Amino acid sequence: MSYPRFTTDGHGCSTPRAIITDAITMHPPVDADASLVAELMGVPAEAERPAQIVAVWQEHWDEHGYGTWIIRESGGDAVGFVGLRAHAEFIRLTLRTAERAANEALEVRALRLASAHAIEWLPDLPIRMRVAPEDAATRSTLESAGMAHVADLDHTTDEGDWQVLELPYVRVAERIPSRAGEAMLAMWVEVNDAGGAVGFLPGASAEEVAPVLDGYASRMQAGGTACVSLNSPVGDLLGFGFLVGSTGPLTRHGATLERIMTDPATRGTNHGALLMAGLHRAARERGVELVTLDYRGGTGLGEFYTRYGYTEVGRVPGALRVAAGDDRDGVIMARSL
Ligand SMILES: CC(C)(COP(=O)(O)OP(=O)(O)OC[C@H]1O[C@@H](n2cnc3c(N)ncnc32)[C@H](O)[C@@H]1OP(=O)(O)O)[C@@H](O)C(=O)NCCC(=O)NCCS
Repeated sequence: MSYPRFTTDGHGCSTPRAIITDAITMHPPVDADASLVAELMGVPAEAERPAQIVAVWQEHWDEHGYGTWIIRESGGDAVGFVGLRAHAEFIRLTLRTAERAANEALEVRALRLASAHAIEWLPDLPIRMRVAPEDAATRSTLESAGMAHVADLDHTTDEGDWQVLELPYVRVAERIPSRAGEAMLAMWVEVNDAGGAVGFLPGASAEEVAPVLDGYASRMQAGGTACVSLNSPVGDLLGFGFLVGSTGPLTRHGATLERIMTDPATRGTNHGALLMAGLHRAARERGVELVTLDYRGGTGLGEFYTRYGYTEVGRVPGALRVAAGDDRDGVIMARSL
């Protein structure tokens, strides 16, 4: 993913308006996008309503600095839209593409990007989308972008019954409450057991992991380190990582990300992307301009972090001995925020 570059100069920064990846681009609407809206509505291109809808979308962008994006396959025509619309107490996601079945993968991609963007940049409000109970296809798209059904929010309007799905939320903590600590320890052990590169040899016990978690708790108490967790709408832990600030007088604008992990049971549902978005938001809010992290070579993680703007800046061959005869490179990556 590449966001338009901007500089952070200590006086705040602006929210990116476009999202550009190799496969897909998402831009705020221009007047000519009324023809796409007309196609989606099944009305003539010169009809009044599509132009009105585009005008409303543009006003929303002007007022809120976010809104509806037009989705294009790289270099291709507009195929649909994904939107974030302000409500008083939440932000509503909307999604529509032409020839739905053919664009299913694109819809998922666009929704995943919009969700991570919302976590990283938008006001800290619940992000929701509603679907008709019989619309299993949309519900599955939303679930693959990390959303979960919150039955308490289901409701009925003149248009019928609605199920409401909500994105996980990010919590930035300066200390670890004991119940959260238990969930983090359990997840850390489970992630390690599942082969995750989170600092331990395979099969490490809770007794081995606990002192390292306690070490983070102490560093948090001392200041400069924060725990960023991703939680389901009902508060279950879905993933976490630590943001460790730099204290040196020359490096205060830098921080490292450590122990990034998501629940193995829900992998592949965008939670890693949402967690990275939350970590970047937390870092930016603390005035961080430069982020570094390291990972274990041979895990594919370089590809994962490259998606979120990181570049390899260093590699120590064979630095990590995972098992006798299995030495891995220690790889360092960095990005500016
Ligand atoms: C790395 C990790 C946090 C990613 O979380 P996740 O919940 O699987 O992430 P997402 O579902 O958001 O995946 C985002 C994208 O990255 C890709 N991806 C995920 N893990 C990857 C990996 N190890 N290597 C390459 N790509 C990866 C996914 O395929 C997905 O791509 P897609 O959008 O094209 O489908 C998770 O796999 C994890 O906890 N791993 C074990 C712990 C670990 O090794 N942490 C790294 C410490 S440096």
